Amino acid sequence: MKKISIILIAVLLSSIVSKADEGMWIPMLLKKYNIEDMQKKGFKLTAEDIYSVNKSSLKDAIVIFGRGCTGEIISDEGLLITNHHCGYSQIQSHSSVDHDYLTDGFWAYNKSEELVNQGLSATFLIRMEDVTKYVLDEISDNLTERERKDKIKTAFAKLEKENSEEGKYKIVTKPFFYGNEYYMFVYQEYTDVRLVGAPPSAIGKFGGDTDNWMWPRHTGDFSMFRIYADKDNNPAKFSKDNVPYKPKRSLDISLKGVKKGDFTFVFGYPGTTMEYLTSYAVKMISGVENPHKINLRDKRLAIMRAEMDKSTKVRIQYSTKYARVANAWKKWIGENRGLMKLNAIEKKQNLESEFTTWVNTDVNRTKEYGTLLNQYKDIYSELSEYKLAQDYVFEAAFATEIVMFTRNFNALANYDNISKEQQAKAIERLRKSSDGFYKDFYMPIDKKTFSTLMPLYKKNIDAKYHPKFFSVVDKKYKGDFNKYAEFLFSKSVLANKEKFNTFLDKFSYKKALKDPAFIIYNDIKDVYLKELNDKIIELNDKLSLLNRKYMKALMEFQKDKIFYPDANFTLRVAFGQVDDYFPKDGVKYDYYTTLDGIIEKDDPEIYDYRVPEKLKELYNAKDYGRYAENGKMHVCFTASNHTTGGNSGSPVLNANGELIGLNFDRNWEGTMSDIMYDPDQCRNITLDIRYALFIIDKFAGAKNLIDEMNIVE
Ligand code: ARG
Ligand code: GLU
Repeated sequence: MKKISIILIAVLLSSIVSKADEGMWIPMLLKKYNIEDMQKKGFKLTAEDIYSVNKSSLKDAIVIFGRGCTGEIISDEGLLITNHHCGYSQIQSHSSVDHDYLTDGFWAYNKSEELVNQGLSATFLIRMEDVTKYVLDEISDNLTERERKDKIKTAFAKLEKENSEEGKYKIVTKPFFYGNEYYMFVYQEYTDVRLVGAPPSAIGKFGGDTDNWMWPRHTGDFSMFRIYADKDNNPAKFSKDNVPYKPKRSLDISLKGVKKGDFTFVFGYPGTTMEYLTSYAVKMISGVENPHKINLRDKRLAIMRAEMDKSTKVRIQYSTKYARVANAWKKWIGENRGLMKLNAIEKKQNLESEFTTWVNTDVNRTKEYGTLLNQYKDIYSELSEYKLAQDYVFEAAFATEIVMFTRNFNALANYDNISKEQQAKAIERLRKSSDGFYKDFYMPIDKKTFSTLMPLYKKNIDAKYHPKFFSVVDKKYKGDFNKYAEFLFSKSVLANKEKFNTFLDKFSYKKALKDPAFIIYNDIKDVYLKELNDKIIELNDKLSLLNRKYMKALMEFQKDKIFYPDANFTLRVAFGQVDDYFPKDGVKYDYYTTLDGIIEKDDPEIYDYRVPEKLKELYNAKDYGRYAENGKMHVCFTASNHTTGGNSGSPVLNANGELIGLNFDRNWEGTMSDIMYDPDQCRNITLDIRYALFIIDKFAGAKNLIDEMNIVE
């Protein structure tokens, strides 16, 4: 009997352990909090192998790629791999009608063919440090939030001075657990990063927005770059004399593939999560903000799609804009469905009532935390209105492209008082950015967007937050935004390129101020600054104090739980296992996809599903080389690692710390993991590294790149 119950308990415990894949952990604290759990689940190395300041470790192979992605080093010559969608703007910037690398792909068959990128960087973490004591040294509870902020800023500046070694390193200090802790990050940034390879979009973006955020997935979402350094291996501006960077560490690549249940971990830079919000916040986001934002973007996307379907030119013009608008739109839809299905608000409320009971059983706690939740309730009931108005400013009012473009006039407010030379320069600059603007501008889309979204702003937002020109629409146009749009798009100099250029020829700021598009822009800015900005800042300050207290209280309340800090674009480890899932009743999604599925989706009529001929030939010949598994070419797989935006391009590693894939997305059913993680539904989507190697080797014939990698059979 006793024996059985012990076994039963062990089984129960182990299933609890193996399900707990939630969390984005701090690398330097793995040895304290996570390594045992990781090893129990199959990890074969030590915490020091992942993060160490004394010897080279896996962290030395990871970089922040550009501003919002992760990348990793895969050869001793500084070769870097990341997602296709992370390198997209670089690939696009080198593309023209003659060299359409987006459509055809790009491969450097030797280093001299690699392409230089303006403004791109790859940033290594040298070390991180817990600086909580240092930062909070002079901080007491008597300070106002403003005073506190100022003191913290001073401490940050001191840390920067003490650690940057005269600018050699970039120092970033960030709050963790809502300012209960602080960590400093010492970075080294390389700025000569060249494009090495990218598959055609029909591979790198296969499935496009149709498949985005979805499983089953077949996207070959990778691109390659190379970091260059000066002859001493230090960062340097681009120069022909620069040489390939010699990394402290590069990743070994495994060809073994994955099985269900295999241990995996993701090592990269997750951007933002909000796991410790109260039920009041979740209600505001899922009940108020998301539905409005989704509806506004529904409308925008439909307008774009209708015109994109009619013309190839318009489709190309709006492809990046469409992808950008669609990406967050689809994420919010998934997030809301997921929160609903999870009963997230109710779960939060239950936690809050247990918390309240705990608080009430102790006098000191009651004194410290007794009013917290009620304060939250009050603040969110006030904040909701402002946030919604803010959402309409950004998602509706500023959705009109010509209105947004007029913000460039702000830089010319001084136009009459600067020298002729400066004037010419300023106009030249504006003309240049307008070239880019008009290249991708199609007036009927913009006009329709304006006349569709503005009435929604008027209808759904309190008159207090209406821009002034609404009264003109009422008085002169009987409230008809279509008629007003006729006026706006015929009168504004921004409505077409010729008019705008003529206007620039004899620029006058006074005249600009009278342009209806700039009037609208300024009216909206006015409302924002007068009615919203200060209020939102004030309430956010109050929230930051509450959040800090509530976080601290939660940690005392659940003192046996190991907490992980919300993502804040600092290096983290998420670990879990390769896993399938049941998206809905009666449906099971397997954990991997293959090239067979790409051929199944092939449809020359659908832009997102056109398969390149060469890929079909390789498929028909089953010419997969050493990259196949039992005669199949695996493409993507799912696992339970807890990831978010910013983790794109992150290495997905196996129990031996070898590269098995690139993280690039999450499943739609699991996108609420930014707010609440569900082990049954939340999956990260990984490109199987073998598919990337197959494309490089067999599709592109870039053996030069394969040869410099360290591939473990
Ligand atoms: N959903 C992924 C992410 O959040 C991929 C986005 C790029 N792909 C696209 N089809 N828009 O970044
Ligand atoms: N595609 C996202 C990125 O670019 C990663 C997907 C996610 O949000 O988890 O960072």
